[in-house]
Formats: sequence, C-alpha cells, structure tokens
Amino acid sequence: MKGMIALKKRLSITAMRKMKQEGTAISMLTAYDYPSAKLAEEAGIDVILVGDSLGNVVLGYDTTIPVTIDDIVYHTRAVARAAEHTFIVADMPFMTYGIGRESTLRNAARIMQEGGAHAVKLEGGADIAADVEALVKAGIPVMGHIGLTPQSVHQLGGYKVQGKLDKEAERLRQDALALEAAGAFSIVLELVTEPLAKLISESLSIPTIGIGGGRYCDGQVLVFHDLLRYSSPYIEKKFVKTYADIGTTIRSAIASYVEEVKSGAYPAEEHVFQPSQGGSSAGALYGSGTNGDAVNETKAVSKSSKEAPQA
Ligand code: KIV
Repeated sequence: MKGMIALKKRLSITAMRKMKQEGTAISMLTAYDYPSAKLAEEAGIDVILVGDSLGNVVLGYDTTIPVTIDDIVYHTRAVARAAEHTFIVADMPFMTYGIGRESTLRNAARIMQEGGAHAVKLEGGADIAADVEALVKAGIPVMGHIGLTPQSVHQLGGYKVQGKLDKEAERLRQDALALEAAGAFSIVLELVTEPLAKLISESLSIPTIGIGGGRYCDGQVLVFHDLLRYSSPYIEKKFVKTYADIGTTIRSAIASYVEEVKSGAYPAEEHVFQPSQGGSSAGALYGSGTNGDAVNETKAVSKSSKEAPQA
C-alpha cells in the first residue's frame, strides 16, 4: 500500500548521529494516542514526539503551560503501546524541570518508567544545561529545544520567529553549543530563521530537528494535527505543509451519519443481526478487528444479511 513501509528496527541515538554524518534526514512527528502512534509507525516515521503541544491540539488549552506530568505520562503510555518499534521522545512539561535537580530527575524517570519513552525533551538553552547534564549522567537521553519555546510564550511576547537580530542569533547558537556540551543527543530548532538554523546545524555534531527552521536542519518535526489539518478551526501556519485534510473528511463523514440516522438510512439491513445468523461473540465484534474471527464474522453477517430476515 502506498506510503507504508515494512517495520524497521527502532532508531538509537547513535544511529541518529550517524544519519546526520551521512546526510540522511530524520523524520519526527508528534503523536498523542494509540491510533496516531500506530499510523505514524506504520508510515515509517523515525521518531515520535509526545509533545506538550497535546495541550493545544488534544486538550483544548491556549498554551502548553497547563499540561502536567500526569498528562504526558498518560499519553506517552498509549503511544508506547502502539509504537513498539519507534524511538519515542516525550516532553517534560512546564515547571517539571529547572526547579531542583531531584524533581527534574524524578519527573523524567516517571516519563521513562511509567510512560515508556526512550528520551525526554526540555525547552531552554544554557540556563538548563546543568539539568540536561544531570539527566544524561543518570542515563536519560535528552533532546534540547531552543528558538521559539512555547512554554515561555508569555516571556517571548507571543509566537514569533526567533534569532532575527544578530545578538539573539548568537545567544541561540551559544545555547545550542551548551546543550551539546551538556550531553543532549539532538536539538529541536523551532521558528528560527533559516540561516541561523543552518549555522547552528553546521556548528554541532548532534542532529538538529527543525520546525519552522527551514531546509538545512538534520531532520524535521511537525505536529500530527497540523500535517493532517485535524482541528477546527484550523490555524494556518507558514511553515506547515498540509499532507491531507482529515478535518474536512471527518466533519463531512459525521454530517452524513447524522443525516442517515435522521432519515433512517442507517442502520441498513447489512448492519443488523437476525436470530438465525451465526456468531455472536462480543469479543469478535468489538475486538481489535484484526483477528480472523472478527473479519469472518463480519463477512458472514453482511453476506447472510442479503437474505430475507427470518423470524
Ligand atoms: O510539543 C511539541 O509538539 C513540540 C514540537 C513543536 C517540537 O515541542
């Protein structure tokens, strides 16, 4: 089937560094639940990010600030159940790091142990380098995140492109170097100018992953709901390419369902059970849908439903 590739071995952080050296781009996508993670893995994504953007796109908050460690652990667990062959990074939410070494380590440990993530992501540069170092020393792989850091949106004065001024660009470059020195295995560059992202990517031996960072990063990340236009209202973003419009597809499918329920067109004969028809196991009918019984039973029902119902 187009767009699907055979499941491959989960990437390691060493493999990601090698990909940078070889010029092979790293693909990363957010996912927050079982079906999105399963689909991402089946499509061959290299890295899944359980981003705190779940606050915006799944939980309906205005910012990522209200997202809690429990939210991240809960969603990461669902993603990990689905994406068994994919490297999973999960965000450390606002104020779950940088407020004391012990609580940073404890929170990261929850994300790894309870959530099943393979690495954590932290927003910030030189200011959080000591935390990054402590996490790495404890055996926890860390992805950095600089540029537009949504947890600091109020301090940054909104969602704006970063690094336009020379002084600001140099500070971001120093932040990237500090994160690399602290042991981060990769850094997300969000909403920074393309020349700055290029300069930073060339200055580091670890891979950079861009989102609104242009063409010269070592990989790219997008938010699942942006790539698929899966929200309402949908907010246009210059750096996003929409690959499918499932928001419109879902809305119109639900509208058809509403219409058919009201007109009586649904359920039709093929959707109902008659006493004379075989198979009634709830597990087969409501289960994963991938077991043979479920498929056979569904087929048997639709085939025999073409016959006249018997009393
Ligand atoms: O939370 C998130 O989805 C992110 C990406 C924007 C990189 O941090």
